[in-house]
Amino acid sequence: MKFGEVLKGKEAEGKEKHVPVIEVDKGAGKEVEIVRVIVGKEVPHPNTVDHHIAWLELYGVKKGGQVVSLGRVSFAPTYTDPNVGFQVPVGEFKAFCALAYCNIHGVWQNCMNVE
Ligand SMILES: [Fe+2]
Repeated sequence: MKFGEVLKGKEAEGKEKHVPVIEVDKGAGKEVEIVRVIVGKEVPHPNTVDHHIAWLELYGVKKGGQVVSLGRVSFAPTYTDPNVGFQVPVGEFKAFCALAYCNIHGVWQNCMNVE
């Protein structure tokens, strides 16, 4: 088995949504640029001790192709929802990719081109 076979995407979604949504705020008029990663933006994912999003990771793909691990956030079930902003120099990257881990439904992926 290859790791890529473990990662699920939009094609595997059921009624509960797991694919991490990536939003880029290039900071027009502000001093910072933020890449936001959200699971359950349209349909909230359950957030109980038995079933929750345990962590999110954000990766950036530089214009030359290098992949940079930009951050990882763990969540306390029932208290924190998976909605995180990372302060990132957006202009240095051509794409962002995120992973989200549900303790029941596994690891989910998404990528967004920013060029
Ligand atoms: Fe789930």
